Amino acid sequence: MENSKLTNVEYGEEKLFDEAKDFLPIKGTDYVELYVGNAKQSAHFYKTAFGFQSEAYAGPETGMRDRVSYVLRQDKIRLVLTTPLTAGHPINEHLALHGDGVKVIALWVDDATSAFEETTKRGAKSYLEPQREEDENGYVVRSGIHTYGDTVHIFVERGAYEGVFLPGFEKWESHYNPPETGLKYIDHMVGNVGWNEMNTWAEFYARVMGFAQLISFDDKDISTEYTALMSKVMSNGNGRIKFPINEPAKGKKKSQIEEFIDFYNGAGVQHIAVATNNIIETVSAMRDRGVEFLYVPGSYYDDLLDRVGEIEEDIEVLKEHGVLVDRDDEGYLLQLFTKPVLDRPTMFFEIIQRKGAKSFGKGNFKALFEAIEREQARRGNL
Ligand code: FE2
Repeated sequence: MENSKLTNVEYGEEKLFDEAKDFLPIKGTDYVELYVGNAKQSAHFYKTAFGFQSEAYAGPETGMRDRVSYVLRQDKIRLVLTTPLTAGHPINEHLALHGDGVKVIALWVDDATSAFEETTKRGAKSYLEPQREEDENGYVVRSGIHTYGDTVHIFVERGAYEGVFLPGFEKWESHYNPPETGLKYIDHMVGNVGWNEMNTWAEFYARVMGFAQLISFDDKDISTEYTALMSKVMSNGNGRIKFPINEPAKGKKKSQIEEFIDFYNGAGVQHIAVATNNIIETVSAMRDRGVEFLYVPGSYYDDLLDRVGEIEEDIEVLKEHGVLVDRDDEGYLLQLFTKPVLDRPTMFFEIIQRKGAKSFGKGNFKALFEAIEREQARRGNL
């Protein structure tokens, strides 16, 4: 079933794509902030299991009296984990509703004031008016807008800042520094939205942020015997930011997107895809450190070469680690998905290694979603 609004997005894309370079140039993902129930322990998990490094800290000791934030880094990926310290803090409401989850997808820009003005004048709802924050290391300007659910984008202008993260943060010195696992940068971040909301948010990214639609999947592309979903991938002008947007579609049983929406109580970030240059090494290290990955049946590999053609990797090794492969016109990609990393069946991670391919693993959707359904069934949510 093709979407009737697709042409609107294509029109928006056509009209706004060139303009994108002008009105919202984005240099990359600046940081991803999760609101969590216990930042100290979450930080330990991301260091131990994922190989993130201790980077910065803010809390009562640094003058931030109402909450703590731990900043972790691995190559270009920066995670911020924040927990409120008082019963009446508004972040508690977010935690009660959503559980642990992504609050902020921060985008690195040269001019956060212009980013705010250009997006709000196109209809974005203000979250944070441009504000200058400074300390002895210089200043940053940050501004922010709302996106789907309770999720927000913060624009970070840091050209005049030399501190470790943001004003108010200090270097986090830890005696516990497990090695990295080879994670390099954020490849894409996926949002799950409710029934009939995919086009609304695809259009939001086109109209308000000047993104273009890279690709669209309907429920024929993404369905199994039981469940279905639809997806559109939105990208900024230079391609550094890619946001697929999923919505549930009707199937015999409950879509994995519906399960997410039920437990997250609304739209939110479903997965963060992180890139590696060596997926086998990365996945082996993560598995040894306790990360749980989705199980793919051995039969997936029986006709793999017929489907994807020649690849450099040894199929037996891929099979041992449950790594999936897909090919498009430009090359192939290797990918693997963790189980949800939180108590609620909400957010998970994707590990991806691109060998030319610019797509998202369409050929793996069926095997992948069947694996997700097996987990859903075990939770009694299928
Ligand atoms: Fe993905």
